[in-house]
Amino acid sequence: MAKLKIGICGWGNVATGLYEQLVNGDEIYADWEICCIGARRDNPKCNPGSTKILRDIFEVVEEDIDVLVELIGGVETAKDLITRALCSGKHVVTANKAVIFEHGEELINLAKKNNVELLFESAVCAGTPAIKMFSNDLTANKISKVAGMLNGTTNFILSNMEEGASYESVLQEAQEKGYAEPDPSLDVNGTDAAHKIGILAALAFNSGLPTPSFYVEGIEDIQSQDFTYANDFHLTVKHLAVAKLNDEGIELRSHPVMLSKDSSLAGLKGVRNGIQFDTNLLGEFHVAGSGAGRESTASGLISDIFALSRSNGSSPMRYPDFSKKPNLLNFDDLVFKYYVYLEVKDEPGVLALISKIFADQSIGFDKVIQKDQLGNGNVPVVIFTDPIVENEMQTALKDLKNNPVILSSKIIRIEDL
Ligand SMILES: NC(=O)c1ccc[n+]([C@@H]2O[C@H](COP(=O)([O-])OP(=O)(O)OC[C@H]3O[C@@H](n4cnc5c(N)ncnc54)[C@H](OP(=O)(O)O)[C@@H]3O)[C@@H](O)[C@H]2O)c1
Repeated sequence: MAKLKIGICGWGNVATGLYEQLVNGDEIYADWEICCIGARRDNPKCNPGSTKILRDIFEVVEEDIDVLVELIGGVETAKDLITRALCSGKHVVTANKAVIFEHGEELINLAKKNNVELLFESAVCAGTPAIKMFSNDLTANKISKVAGMLNGTTNFILSNMEEGASYESVLQEAQEKGYAEPDPSLDVNGTDAAHKIGILAALAFNSGLPTPSFYVEGIEDIQSQDFTYANDFHLTVKHLAVAKLNDEGIELRSHPVMLSKDSSLAGLKGVRNGIQFDTNLLGEFHVAGSGAGRESTASGLISDIFALSRSNGSSPMRYPDFSKKPNLLNFDDLVFKYYVYLEVKDEPGVLALISKIFADQSIGFDKVIQKDQLGNGNVPVVIFTDPIVENEMQTALKDLKNNPVILSSKIIRIEDL
C-alpha cells in the first residue's frame, strides 16, 4: 500500500509536537511519511532530522503530498495556504479555529468542489473529541444546547487564581507551557472560545457559521475576591461559551460565569476543557479532557489523519448545511441571575441609593452582603440578584456608574447548568 504523504506547515509548539509524536511514536504511523516541513526558521526545541525543510510555506503545496497540515495560526495567510492546497487536490488538516470560524464555509465548499477533505478536530478542545463525533457518535441526536469551557488557557488561569495565584503570573506560565495562542489576548478576551462555540453551533444545529456579532467577554476583569464571594455560596468562576437552540432562534455567547461547584464543568481544573450537550436521545452528555498543549493537539491532528487514511473515498465529516443562516437572538433580551460587585464610599445612605437604582429597573435581590472597609477606606458591596433581563441590568449599571459614591462596579452572570 502506498504511504500517506504529509506536509506540515508551521514549526511552532503544535507542529513540533505533532512531528515528535509521529517520528517517535507507534508503528501505527508506519504507513505515513512526513515529506516536508514549511518552517520559515529553525525551532531550537525540535530537530527535524533529514526531513526536507522549505522556508516558504507555500512551497509545501507544490510538493508530492496527500495531506497538508496547517499549523501557522492566524487568518488570512492560513486561508490562502489552505485554499491553494485544496485547489491542488490535497486534503487539509488544521487546528486553526480562527480560520475555520471566519472562512469555514468558503473553504469547506472549496474542499467539496475539489473532492478533498478539510478536517479540524483540534480546532475545538485540542485532542479532546468534539468535532467528528457530530458526524459519527451523535448523528442520531437532536442537540438543543452546547455549553463549553472551551479555552484551556483561560481555565488554567482561573483555576490557578482560585488557588491564590495572580492573573499575570499564571498567564506567563500558560505561555511558557505552550498552552496560550500565538496571540494570548485571543484566549483571555473570549475570542478564541467564541470562535469555537460558533463552529460547534454550526455543527450541532446543522446551520451556517454565525457572524461574529454575538456577545463576547473575556476574563481580564476577574479578581481574586470574586472567587472568595462565589465560594461563600458554593459557586466558582469559569469562562463559558453557550449555544442554545429555541423556537425563536439561537442564543450564542462567550463570557465569564459563576457556576455551582456541583456542576460537572466546575470541577475541571488546569487546561482541561469540557462540553455539556443537551440531546434528545442521550440526554445530558459530557466530554472533558485536555484542551491545549502540543501533545493534546497532536492527538486531535492524528485522529484527523487517521480518518483520512481510513476513509476509502467517503467523507469522515457531515459538514453543516451552510444555506441555513443562523438567526441569533439579541443578547440584551436574555435573562440571567447576576453577581454584582460594587466598591462604594463609606457614607450613610449608600445602600439605600443602590437599592433604589435596582428597584427602578425592578431588579430583586436574592442576597446582599456588605463587607468590612478595604485598605483604601472604601467598602465592598456584593449582591446576588433574582433573574432579570440583561438590558435592565445594563441600565442599572449605567445609573450606578453615574453616581459619584459608586467607585467601581462589575457583574458576572450566574449560569444554571
Ligand atoms: N498551542 C495549543 O495548545 C493549541 C491548541 C489547539 C489549537 N492550536 C492551534 O494550532 C495552531 C498553531 O499554534 P501554536 O501554538 O503551534 O503556535 P506557534 O507556537 O506560535 O507556532 C506557529 C508557527 O507558525 C509559523 N508561522 C506563523 N505565521 C507564519 C507565516 N505567515 N509564514 C510562515 N510561518 C508562519 C511560526 O513561525 P515563527 O516562529 O517564525 O513566527 C511558528 O513556527 C494555531 O492555529 C492554534 O490556534 C494550538
